[in-house]
Amino acid sequence: MQTKILYQSLPQVEADAAAVVVFEDESPSADLKFASAWLDELKASGEFSGKSGEMAVLHQPQGIKAKRLAVVGGGKKAAFDSAALRKATGSTVRSLKQKGVKSLAWILEGRDAEAAVEGALLGSFEPDQHKTKSDAKPLESFHVVAAANGAEIEKSFERGVILAEAQNFTRELVNEPANLLTPLVLAAKAQEMAAAAGLECEVLDQDRMKQLGMGSLLGVAQGSAAPPALIVVRYRPAAAPKSADHLALVGKGVTLDTGGVSIKPADGMEKMKYDMAGGAAVLGAMRAIAKLKPSIPVTAFVPAVENMVSSNAQRPGDIVTSLNGKTIEVLNTDAEGRLILIDALTYAKRLGCTHLVDAATLTGAIVVALGHVNIGAFTNNEDFLAQVMAAAKDQGEKMWHMPLDDDYKDLLKSAFADLANIGGRWGGAISAAWFLREFVDDTPWVHLDIAGTAWLDESKPFLAKGPTGVCVRTFVKLAMGW
Ligand code: BES
Ligand code: MN
Ligand code: ZN
Repeated sequence: MQTKILYQSLPQVEADAAAVVVFEDESPSADLKFASAWLDELKASGEFSGKSGEMAVLHQPQGIKAKRLAVVGGGKKAAFDSAALRKATGSTVRSLKQKGVKSLAWILEGRDAEAAVEGALLGSFEPDQHKTKSDAKPLESFHVVAAANGAEIEKSFERGVILAEAQNFTRELVNEPANLLTPLVLAAKAQEMAAAAGLECEVLDQDRMKQLGMGSLLGVAQGSAAPPALIVVRYRPAAAPKSADHLALVGKGVTLDTGGVSIKPADGMEKMKYDMAGGAAVLGAMRAIAKLKPSIPVTAFVPAVENMVSSNAQRPGDIVTSLNGKTIEVLNTDAEGRLILIDALTYAKRLGCTHLVDAATLTGAIVVALGHVNIGAFTNNEDFLAQVMAAAKDQGEKMWHMPLDDDYKDLLKSAFADLANIGGRWGGAISAAWFLREFVDDTPWVHLDIAGTAWLDESKPFLAKGPTGVCVRTFVKLAMGW
């Protein structure tokens, strides 16, 4: 889809449809004066009152060049923030493209160009990369129509495009099935992205990981014929940074989680291709970071493995030695995410990262706790969490601060090794987070459990079914705000 800013006014714009927001608690903007009779009639009929989610379309409107006028409900004006605008453009794109509209002009009326174009690009994405004949009708162009030219709006618009493309890159990766996206394929895609974006990328293979002693990660990988990879992507700012801070973004990259010998039920197992959504999110964030150039160094780490069942697979009761030397009793092979993350977190610390953020589809328990709305956020450092949560809030990604009291730590006791890899049924998302915490020590760290938020089982008006690309925006904002 082509995107552009047009410096025009509504009457001049040529498009299949021009869209304007109308609020439930305010009379329509002056731009819509020419359509006031139609709008009065619409309101009187009860068909459209300006509530969010509503839309009405007028064909061949008199007084403007566009072939259709779409009025889009904005809800209460005071609550119409950037997040609401992002959803509004997304919903409008999704609904109009299905009606056959090819070009859409969005009348900005001074609002956030970044959110407008971002929502449109996110809404236009369809997870149909493997359909030979898709029933989706694509929108060909989305134009933001603004009154006045300026460097500010151009920058904001460009940011929106960069962020949306990064999220769609993530969504496309997550949507890839495990036969087409093995750990090595993911690594190759990361390398391709890094080369195009001007980032360094290094892939640690199985032998290198053996040399280093990443026994915890390798234990998970050993059941698959597809070899593992630890993907490392580096961004370094051009100017010498003011502080020694170095941000690590660590993302779980399980290309398929069958559960291993502690096998998952067949029902829904196919969905576990999204168990690399954290890894895909950090790669998407790096893609945007390369273009937006924050002032601190950022390194992404993606431990990529396939968790399979075979005669080589890790067994319940196996004891493995992690990179930092601690031993782990693997009581359940389905608790594999934490086993690969700890070796990646330890490695990130060894490379000098001072602040660690990980994103992982780590537990079903977080879905029980928070449903599909909030990311579960855990930390060993309240100030750092506040920084991450502020970035998330700015970007309209919801996070909930979960507890990590010392009292939960005992759940991970093992009779035979330093730690067990599971902590029992209750508080499962918390014991999983505690397991990670045992390996980060005092380095400021935030763990984001995205099991409930990385995938949509049903489409939303503004987003297709499937991968959401969650965390990309927050990560980029976090880096940019440093
Ligand atoms: N990838 C799963 C977590 C998951 C569950 C993600 C549902 C998305 C939706 C993870 O590897 C896992 O299997 N966790 C287990 C842990 C348990 C064995 C302690 C779980 O949550 O059941
Ligand atoms: Mn699992
Ligand atoms: Zn998993």
